[in-house]
Amino acid sequence: MDSIYGTALLLWLSASLRIISAWPQPAIKAQIRQDSSQLSADEYDYVIVGGGTSGLTVGDRLTVDGKFTVLVLEYGYFDTSVGMNPRRMFNITSEPSPGLNNRTFRVGVGCVVGGSSTVNGQVFLRGSKLEYDAWKELSGPNSTIRYNTKYWSKDAKIYATFGGKPQPLMKNLFSAISKMPGMTVPEDSGAGEAGLYWYPISQDNVNFQRSSARTGHWEGLNRSNYEMIVGAKPNKINFDGDRAISVQYISRNDSSTPPVTIKARKHVILAAGSIHTPQDLPGVRSNFQDHSYIPNIAYSWGTTPNGIFVPRPWCSMMPPNLAAMIGMPVSYTKELIEGYKQQQHVYAKLFRKKNNLHPLSRGTILPDPDDIDKEMKVDYRASSNTLDTRVVIEIIKFMRRYMTQSDLKIYNATEMLPGAEMQSDEELMGWARGIIIPSVYHPAGTELGVHGVRGLSVVDASIMPTLVGATTSMTVYAIAEKAAGMIKAKTK
Ligand SMILES: Cc1cc2nc3c(=O)[nH]c(=O)nc-3n(C[C@H](O)[C@H](O)[C@H](O)COP(=O)(O)OP(=O)(O)OC[C@H]3O[C@@H](n4cnc5c(N)ncnc54)[C@H](O)[C@@H]3O)c2cc1C
Ligand SMILES: *[C@@H]1O[C@H](CO)[C@@H](O)[C@H](O)[C@H]1NC(C)=O
Ligand SMILES: *[C@@H]1O[C@H](CO)[C@@H](O)[C@H](O)[C@H]1NC(C)=O
Ligand SMILES: *[C@@H]1O[C@H](CO)[C@@H](O)[C@H](O)[C@H]1NC(C)=O
Ligand SMILES: *[C@@H]1O[C@H](CO)[C@@H](O)[C@H](O)[C@H]1NC(C)=O
Ligand SMILES: *[C@@H]1O[C@H](CO)[C@@H](O)[C@H](O)[C@H]1NC(C)=O
Ligand SMILES: *[C@@H]1O[C@H](CO)[C@@H](O)[C@H](O)[C@H]1NC(C)=O
Repeated sequence: MDSIYGTALLLWLSASLRIISAWPQPAIKAQIRQDSSQLSADEYDYVIVGGGTSGLTVGDRLTVDGKFTVLVLEYGYFDTSVGMNPRRMFNITSEPSPGLNNRTFRVGVGCVVGGSSTVNGQVFLRGSKLEYDAWKELSGPNSTIRYNTKYWSKDAKIYATFGGKPQPLMKNLFSAISKMPGMTVPEDSGAGEAGLYWYPISQDNVNFQRSSARTGHWEGLNRSNYEMIVGAKPNKINFDGDRAISVQYISRNDSSTPPVTIKARKHVILAAGSIHTPQDLPGVRSNFQDHSYIPNIAYSWGTTPNGIFVPRPWCSMMPPNLAAMIGMPVSYTKELIEGYKQQQHVYAKLFRKKNNLHPLSRGTILPDPDDIDKEMKVDYRASSNTLDTRVVIEIIKFMRRYMTQSDLKIYNATEMLPGAEMQSDEELMGWARGIIIPSVYHPAGTELGVHGVRGLSVVDASIMPTLVGATTSMTVYAIAEKAAGMIKAKTK
């Protein structure tokens, strides 16, 4: 059966074994260490927790002039293969989502050198200026956040390309959707504006190989001041008063070796990603956001259009102009509710500007109360905000109009899913609750900032106060570039 699936993105480490010696060692290049006996020192200028997208970007920038020593502590291992494979992933199952028939979901997060950029879907979009301006508004008058494309500058060896020529059927689908009422086709298809566009992917444009934090910010670096230890599980940050001074880690797979403490002369940098950075820090973990999607609104063609079959065209949908607010996790404090109100204010603006990928439901990421060393408890609380569910309904209706009223109507498509019998909003939402996937692996917003602590910075996706209406890796690279500059300025 020829079908078309519209995928609508919705609003988602031994001290005894260790050779202790003075730095610098005559090391040859940036080195991957398998265990602590191979480390050249027990003290570095900077210690980075997490060798992923943000961690390796910051590590590259802090070691480039050879003045400072950096150690990256990475829980995953080095893997020459790439892409989403359980071997390179954490294995986390979410808490049941009451808004989605209590279904549980696999939480996608990379666990490998290069982090999620090694396993992700490579859709490479930045957010719009308006959205980063919203962060500024949410971060107070002294915020230095501003939209600045220099953070995606040419000297970053992270590449993007549009890939091959569109297939004929894709052109057909594009043309029909572009004529839908209210649909816009932004001129710059990577800029995170709502509308319809061919989107760039994070690959080089010569060999079409994945461009990741590993290829762009680790490989080829010949730096004796830069080391990474893999298979390391940091389990404690030590403070002197309010200042972070060292990180303790244990071996991920060898429990016979005692913990090792690495001193950070200048700064500790947390880059373990949205799910695990909160594990290392006390405080706020309740602003958790991701994009959800409807995996299968399906049609069967009556008359098959010309052109070859394309299983999953991805397109950005027209947003509904709605704004109303309900539903927050009960664990929210007064301060958090206040913060959420501010977000709503900013969101009202974003919605008016048609930017559509802004989920309003908020989840939590909390340590296991029975054992804080266990995996974090991830609760998406997806569709807990009724506005998010309204948007889902609008997306289904939009797909119906697209298939039956646009230029595609000549192909006489029959709706397979949800099926023509589903008509009322309640019926559509009932169907969607059984279908929606609450994550396109864009976890963000778990940490609202580290206040009252010195010598420590968070540089990963968890610092986004609100999710951008775009995929997240490009924004993470920019955050890391900015963070590296700020850390350098603060600690020189
Ligand atoms: C399957 C998947 C598909 C995605 N698709 C896209 C897409 O198409 N386009 C897009 O732009 N974005 C996509 N993303 C999202 C994007 O890749 C992430 O937002 C971004 O890479 C996050 O960067 P980060 O530095 O915050 O975390 P990560 O890159 O995940 O880095 C965190 C690192 O810390 C390590 N770590 C974790 N816990 C610890 C610990 N306790 N101690 C030490 N190390 C630790 C991890 O192994 C990892 O290497 C996808 C993500 C996934 C998982
Ligand atoms: C996840 O499971 C796979 C096997 O399916 C395993 O190879 C991998 O190491 C696991 N990830 C973690 C972080 O334990
Ligand atoms: C989900 O689980 C909760 C708690 O166990 C229960 O009260 C609720 O009825 C369940 N909802 C559905 C739709 O099954
Ligand atoms: C902003 O910075 C000024 C000058 O450093 C300081 O006096 C003020 O308290 C800061 N305001 C906020 C809201 O942090
Ligand atoms: C790495 O750098 C060292 C010293 O700076 C140099 O002698 C060596 O040739 C370099 N190796 C490579 C592969 O470039
Ligand atoms: C731990 O894992 C690393 C990398 O896979 C391996 O080289 C090492 O032998 C393992 N150690 C133990 C004790 O299993
Ligand atoms: C359109 O499809 C319906 C049933 O799905 C069929 O009855 C009708 O003949 C078709 N019309 C054309 C022009 O293909």
